[in-house]
Amino acid sequence: MVKEIVERQAEKSAVEEIRVDGFDHTEFYVGNALQACYYYHHGFGFDIVGYKGLETGHRDRVSYVLQQGNVKIVLTGALNADSDIAEHVHRHGDGVKTIGMKVRDARLAYETAIARGAKSFAEPTEVTDDYGTMVTASVHTYGDTIHTFVDRSNYSKDNFAPGFKPIQGKADGGVGLAAIDHVVGNVEVDRMEHWVDFYKKVFGFYVYQYFDANDISTKYSALVSKVMANRTGSIKLPLNEPAVGIRKSQIQEYLDYYLAPGVQHIAIATRDIIKTVGALHERGIEFLTVPRSYYDALPERVGEIDEDIEELAKLGILVDRESEGYLLQIFTKPVEDRPTLFFEIIQRKGAHGFGKGNFKALFESIEREQANRGNL
Ligand code: FE2
Repeated sequence: MVKEIVERQAEKSAVEEIRVDGFDHTEFYVGNALQACYYYHHGFGFDIVGYKGLETGHRDRVSYVLQQGNVKIVLTGALNADSDIAEHVHRHGDGVKTIGMKVRDARLAYETAIARGAKSFAEPTEVTDDYGTMVTASVHTYGDTIHTFVDRSNYSKDNFAPGFKPIQGKADGGVGLAAIDHVVGNVEVDRMEHWVDFYKKVFGFYVYQYFDANDISTKYSALVSKVMANRTGSIKLPLNEPAVGIRKSQIQEYLDYYLAPGVQHIAIATRDIIKTVGALHERGIEFLTVPRSYYDALPERVGEIDEDIEELAKLGILVDRESEGYLLQIFTKPVEDRPTLFFEIIQRKGAHGFGKGNFKALFESIEREQANRGNL
């Protein structure tokens, strides 16, 4: 069963929370930023809004900024063989380097995190250009992933950050992606508690929900998951750890290919999932599928919903009911060469959870894909 907000009361003595106003951006280190940019622009409908590279005086990297609604993705590629970016891609394949957090005081957030034991990745840097002043600072989290604190309160919305130049004329119109809902990390066996403690002790976050092997298991694989969140709920960071099953769990498959803990999926919220997913299908984005029997059982499982079940079945959208409402969700196939990162599209209609009722159908779908890859 879901243990909602179980530890909220017990956490009264916990450290004061680092004040975070939500996700800022996520930065991917990729092998070819130009081509990845084309994929997110045409495939997911992101506008290309910013650029840095040789033309802006950067000799070591190329970055494209993509935006849709409040979702900002930065795609960064290396210009030299010996750069950290090239090393990251060599080891992990394309993947998420930074989970950015919007803060009002990046220095304070950084210094608080460091004082509580976080490892520094980049000290606070204040840069001023024609668009204003921005302060950023970064700390390590699981694997080679980092959190970047971004204070853009004195910086214009017309540019992503100092060093970048705004790009005009590369708008797409989008598919209705509105905001990052949550970002999930996969961590190694027996390291879950370590990272739960890290988010508790360093950030002052709490365990919002957790799922154990009884909630999340199929014939073959199992996992345990704890959702770390801030009090406002603007940051939700679920952490998954592989649990012992008969065969290799999907988390273990990820770890075997990413070669470290890292970001498993980014969930993006939409206000009209049927429209969004319909458009993504048309653009060639591939999703996990569930058997027809899932939809036959749906009315009994979730009761009355606003959407037409046939339409959901056609697109492969999943539904889960909770006490306060329901949610609709769907998962892409991995979006990199290695079976690592994927995206979730989610629409919440009163529900605050993560689709526990869909875990079984979903994991069976993932296992069919794993078997196709020869990894089950
Ligand atoms: Fe999710």
